[in-house]
Amino acid sequence: MDTNKRPDNMQRITTPELAKAFIDEQVAKVRAQVGNKKVLLALSGGVDSSVVAALLIKAIGKQLVCVHVNHGLMRKGESEQVIEVFGKALDANLIYIDATDRFLDLLAGVSEPEKKRKIIGAEFINVFAEEASKLEGISFLAQGTIYPDILESIKQAEGKKAVKSHHNVGGLPEDLQFELVEPIKLLFKDEVRVVGEALGLPHAMVYRQPFPGPGLGVRCLGAITRDRLHALREADAILREEFDNCGLNEKVWQYFIAVPDVKSVGVKDESRYEGWPAIIRAVNTTDAMSATIEEIPYPVLHKITARITSEVEGINRVLYDLTPKPTGTIEWE
Ligand code: XMP
Repeated sequence: MDTNKRPDNMQRITTPELAKAFIDEQVAKVRAQVGNKKVLLALSGGVDSSVVAALLIKAIGKQLVCVHVNHGLMRKGESEQVIEVFGKALDANLIYIDATDRFLDLLAGVSEPEKKRKIIGAEFINVFAEEASKLEGISFLAQGTIYPDILESIKQAEGKKAVKSHHNVGGLPEDLQFELVEPIKLLFKDEVRVVGEALGLPHAMVYRQPFPGPGLGVRCLGAITRDRLHALREADAILREEFDNCGLNEKVWQYFIAVPDVKSVGVKDESRYEGWPAIIRAVNTTDAMSATIEEIPYPVLHKITARITSEVEGINRVLYDLTPKPTGTIEWE
């Protein structure tokens, strides 16, 4: 039997009861596979790796070692949430690595989008592999692979060309010699979410919008600088807060800020004020292959604009990107 093929008769997990049955089955399977050995997991804080972490904590407790690499390109508060939920509430065996300087030093002066993606992906593997080599007695590597990832790799194996080189922070170190533990590899995203809620993970974590592996690195356009990255992170946090306040967070598939490496002349406190524009992107899609633009009400746009331009150092304009995919991709890089 091909263990990477979802059986045609597999029931969709749509209710807490079905999720509980799935969890019990996977807990038993993981215990049988792992015995008393140790398992390593790259925990990004995204839905998939978080659900795998919670499932494995339930199955094997402290035999799971979670490594959270903060590449300095996370959104505001994200690494803190990983520490809060896994390090504290679930009392996981969590190693937190702040690798911000390593990533930002390597990225300094690099403006070509594919180069940036490759640097971030490769450095992630370097940091993770270094950490893994320091740990003793690890026999397994857990991954948050889900069924669309398997379908995507089948497409790639068939020679279909990708527009961008994607990287998943969920852990891609192919040359690490571990046996894999992939408890959610036959699930679709909506099923992963039902399982996540049944495991007691916070709603905001389980329903988190998609976030690319290279993080804010592909939204701080061109060569990344620390001050522009900081402005982007703060502006993005305001956008998310305002979407939460008016309920758009439940309606819009993905929304974020991008900040280009361009300054325009503005005025603040009666003086010339050169700043970057913050670009809002808010899209709806079912499969991320094409996307439409959300019609954000003007009062919401005005409020976001007023807050970003007054609260975020370095931003003097706010723009709204009305381009669907195609011709734009969802991310700018
Ligand atoms: P694009 O920009 O290609 O994005 O229209 C489609 C969806 O994929 C997300 N994305 C990524 N996800 N690793 C990921 O896991 C990546 O490197 C990556 N790049 C883009 C993007 O946010 C959108 O949801």
